[in-house]
Amino acid sequence: MTDVDLVKAKIDIVDFISEHIKLTKAGRNFKALCPFHGEKTPSFIISPERQSWHCFGACATGGDVISFLQKWENLEFVEALKILAQRAGVTLSSYQPTESSKLKDKLYEINHLSSEFFHFLLTSHKSGSRAREYLKSRGIKDEIVKTFTLGYAPDSWDSLLAFLTKKGYGSSDINTAGLLVRSDRGTYYDRFRGRLMFTLKDQRGNIIGFSGRLLDEGVYSERQRGAKYVNTSETPIYIKGNTLYGLDITKEAIKKEKEAVVVEGEFDLLSSFQSGVANIVAIKGSALTEGQTVLLRRFTENINLALDSDFAGSEAARRGIEIAEKGGLTVKVVELPYGKDPAECIEKDPYLWKKAVKEVVPVYDFIIKAAFTKYGKEGVVGKKKIGNEVIPFLSKIENPIILSHYVKDLSNKLQVTEESIELSIAQYVKKKEIPKEIKTAVSGSSREILLEEYLLSLIIQSDNPHEYIAAVMKILTFDDFNLSPVKKIMELLVGFLSSCKKFEVKKFGSLLTSEIAPAFDKAYLADRSNILSEKQIFEKELLHTCWEIKKMSLRRRINSISTKIKQSEEKKDEPSAKKTNEQLRDLLRQIREIEKTTQKA
Ligand code: CTP
Ligand code: MN
Repeated sequence: MTDVDLVKAKIDIVDFISEHIKLTKAGRNFKALCPFHGEKTPSFIISPERQSWHCFGACATGGDVISFLQKWENLEFVEALKILAQRAGVTLSSYQPTESSKLKDKLYEINHLSSEFFHFLLTSHKSGSRAREYLKSRGIKDEIVKTFTLGYAPDSWDSLLAFLTKKGYGSSDINTAGLLVRSDRGTYYDRFRGRLMFTLKDQRGNIIGFSGRLLDEGVYSERQRGAKYVNTSETPIYIKGNTLYGLDITKEAIKKEKEAVVVEGEFDLLSSFQSGVANIVAIKGSALTEGQTVLLRRFTENINLALDSDFAGSEAARRGIEIAEKGGLTVKVVELPYGKDPAECIEKDPYLWKKAVKEVVPVYDFIIKAAFTKYGKEGVVGKKKIGNEVIPFLSKIENPIILSHYVKDLSNKLQVTEESIELSIAQYVKKKEIPKEIKTAVSGSSREILLEEYLLSLIIQSDNPHEYIAAVMKILTFDDFNLSPVKKIMELLVGFLSSCKKFEVKKFGSLLTSEIAPAFDKAYLADRSNILSEKQIFEKELLHTCWEIKKMSLRRRINSISTKIKQSEEKKDEPSAKKTNEQLRDLLRQIREIEKTTQKA
């Protein structure tokens, strides 16, 4: 047994995953909302027998306990293995970090040192005095400066570069960490100069990057001074869209309050935290992304958006709400009673903010209000545009009383009948259903792959694989399978079943190579419960699928024979053309026969 096998044998995947997400029993498996993409209905299946997981939704991928942890914590294989080995009490005999995991470790180190450097300058060095004054003017206390490791980047071209060089790091690595800018002459200089520094961490507290704010906006033009905020460029450890500022510190409060307040800026977050509203994260000025939604859902299902007043009605805000709702979050909106953003509101009076956070409004009121502000209700065109914007949201309301409330509200505000709103919702829902099917057909795997995987899943999930595989192999040969993993699994399966009375998944699983195991898991974990429960339907479906696969296999052969015929004819090779023509006729006849038989059945 290898170290990897030993670790996997000692950690039960169901126990492990259930420490991270909520699982419910589903037959012999468990299911959950996929933690790796946003969704409302569970498509994430975990198999205790196979000790594996598979997402049948947007991820369309699966794996074992190690790959789960890798994805969960964004780790390299060896990093995840190390953590699990420690938990399992397994000493890894050979541990070789990969190049990319070595690089990531180095980037974390560089960021860590930089954060200490900036923090020291802000708190204890004379060059940080202007930044200290600035923080004072914004009412941020020392304790917050410490908790969030705020810092100051001196107004110089190479302070950080010099500091890190002295610590033994090369400029190319420091550049990879996103802390430098490359000049036209090919030399490097500090990206952050004369700025208040926010340390960006992932939810585990690793330092992944920085964001720096100007101290005096007024003095120079934007061209001279640069943007108000500058961020670390994207690096192997910093992806802006997957980051939520503050989460490492606020996640416990979010879990406890069972909701998260989402603000835009770093200052909004710090002021709020200081005012006592600690269940908060900042999205740093862009629309909420799916990555952020998925991250948030680990800690809560409820988010309360407190957006800047200029951003609140925007397309980006609407998109963010849609992404969050699609991701299974319940979204409410904090209405700012004062100021352009939470920071201003809190500066005016922290109590106003605390009150607003408690009095959240449903997202629908917000959407309606925002649409009216944007288009005005005058004229038919304005009304139509408001409708177009609001209807998609109303169409998602499942509770009939709530729905009726908003239908009435919108009809009053637009001065149109309730029926017209109801009709619009019905039309929208209908229109949406068709593209959904087209989408799965196009973006999903081809029909061939689907059918072959489907057949495999029916056989291995049935109550009698012996009987059914015999029936299948009466119709199909191994060469009829076009998908190589399915073909290999079928070959193994026929051999396996001929030598044992009972189909034991655990035993069979040990025969699977890592190359074909994913295909097997996908087939074994797919939800076929409604077909399996009715023996008659099941058997009909099984045969029907076989015949479809057979037909596709015949068509593939027809295609290749047609090319051959063309070639023979071009070469004027009559005997060969005649022979292949006969073969073609035979194949066509076979297809016709199948069609006849299946129509009768
Ligand atoms: N932001 C950014 N890059 C910019 C501008 C903004 O990353 N060029 C992000 C920052 O995280 C900022 C947030 O967007 O905190 C909100 O931007 P904005 O509302 O413009 O900043 P203010 O709230 O006015 O910032 P401050 O309170 O610092 O004045
Ligand atoms: Mn703002």
